[in-house]
Amino acid sequence: MEFISRSPEQTQRVGARLGQLLRGGEVICLQGALGAGKTVLAQGIGRGWGSATPLVSPSFVLVREHRRPTGDQILLHVDFYRLEDPREALGLGLEDWLGAPDVVALIEWPERAMDVLPSERMWVRLEFIDTEQRRLLFTAEGPSYQDLLRAFRRATFGV
Ligand SMILES: Nc1ncnc2c1ncn2[C@@H]1O[C@H](COP(=O)(O)OP(=O)(O)O)[C@@H](O)[C@H]1O
Ligand SMILES: [Mg+2]
Repeated sequence: MEFISRSPEQTQRVGARLGQLLRGGEVICLQGALGAGKTVLAQGIGRGWGSATPLVSPSFVLVREHRRPTGDQILLHVDFYRLEDPREALGLGLEDWLGAPDVVALIEWPERAMDVLPSERMWVRLEFIDTEQRRLLFTAEGPSYQDLLRAFRRATFGV
């Protein structure tokens, strides 16, 4: 599914629509160059999911944990930008968390640690069009993400 965003606010809003649909267990990979809008989109997803704390650019921290005011689910905001070596990601023990039913994971720079990613996931590519416009390409990787993508499309475009 392709979405053309014309502002950071619009990227946040589309993220919030996706965040509202997350039930737990989802892994969402956000791939794109520096400044493409991965964190802006993650912030929207976190808002829609209901995070009690706003998502920030994790840059120096590989993983940040967020919760909702009520409930046991956690949202992990992962950023592999500072990862020196893909093997470092394995040392974090993330494999046990990614895909767990009470965990939602948003992963920036996922391509830097392919080995820790579950094979089923939502993959989002963010591309520059110009200063204010971004192309967002959402792909379901694995059967369980097809339903999520369909629901997301309906919520976004009404079809
Ligand atoms: N349509 C848009 N969607 C998202 N961000 C945008 C858009 N237009 C401009 N921007 C700007 O681009 C930057 C994206 O930053 P950020 O989300 O931190 O990027 P990344 O996490 O991909 O490195 C922000 O400064 C934001 O204001
Ligand atoms: Mg970022």
